[in-house]
Amino acid sequence: MKRGLLLGLVLTFAFSGISLGAAPTEDGASLLEQRCSVCHPSARPKAAKKTPAEWESTVSRMIGKGAQLNAVEKKSLIDYLGKTYKP
Ligand code: HEC
Repeated sequence: MKRGLLLGLVLTFAFSGISLGAAPTEDGASLLEQRCSVCHPSARPKAAKKTPAEWESTVSRMIGKGAQLNAVEKKSLIDYLGKTYKP
């Protein structure tokens, strides 16, 4: 009985840890919708198919134009774009 309760607590912490790790601002899909729809619709990047290296240079170019992304967000977005919108 006590063991079961303890296990339950450990699992609860484990799962809340996972949801904390996926904070909304670092989620690639949300970043794409929020930060890449300022100057053109997010449909513009979604219509493109690029390798991770090409996304890296596109996103850097967009940051040069004024896209708001910190280093962590940039990496997370490039990972997401590279996996989702590939040739
Ligand atoms: C500050 C304004 C601005 C923001 C924010 C912005 N873009 Fe752009 N983007 C542009 C402009 C202007 C063009 C068209 C001119 C060009 O291609 O350089 C463009 C064109 C594009 C293109 C088509 C050209 C190509 O290189 O394939 C893609 C893809 C793209 N943007 C992706 C993104 C992504 C991904 C983000 C989010 C990180 C983003 N953009 C955020 C201004 C912006």
